[in-house]
Amino acid sequence: MLVCATHHVDHTCALAAAVAGLAQDGDLILLVGDLGAGKTHFTQGFARALGVTDRVTSPTFTLANRYVGDIIINHLDAYRVEQLSEAEDLALPELLEDGVTLIEWGDNLAPVLPMGRLEIRIVLGQGDDDRRLELTGVGPAWAARWADLETAVADWRVA
Ligand SMILES: Nc1ncnc2c1ncn2[C@@H]1O[C@H](COP(=O)(O)OP(=O)(O)O)[C@@H](O)[C@H]1O
Ligand SMILES: [Mg+2]
Repeated sequence: MLVCATHHVDHTCALAAAVAGLAQDGDLILLVGDLGAGKTHFTQGFARALGVTDRVTSPTFTLANRYVGDIIINHLDAYRVEQLSEAEDLALPELLEDGVTLIEWGDNLAPVLPMGRLEIRIVLGQGDDDRRLELTGVGPAWAARWADLETAVADWRVA
């Protein structure tokens, strides 16, 4: 696990941009953390780094937002998924085929998602603008990029 700390929303966006530099078609990124942790801002920084100029807003449940940058970016929010059967409405397998997919509250869908994933848990810190970001990679695709990810996030790394 890589642990990073940010002290301003812009730092979280910059960290997201660094992660985006390693993104590949077919990637799945779960964003985990309470309301206001910074999951949507992370996605904004991520998408901007891949050339998306459209405003990235919170997706409504059951609706995935799709942005076309250097690669396709799917953005979902699973906050209101109460039963995993509802996840069928999201047509996840089809979505995951194209581009990189970021899912806020992705832990709610974890059982129906492929194992290969990058999980980013954002935890509130002491100060209003302090956040701790814990990055965990699962599967060979992230293992192969782990050293590059360590380098990419080195500026924010605390452990
Ligand atoms: N270090 C930080 N990283 C991310 N967001 C921060 C940080 N400091 C303050 N914020 C603020 O926290 C809020 C995060 O909102 P948002 O990204 O919508 O969260 P979520 O999608 O997790 O509910 C924004 O108002 C943002 O400006
Ligand atoms: Mg959000």
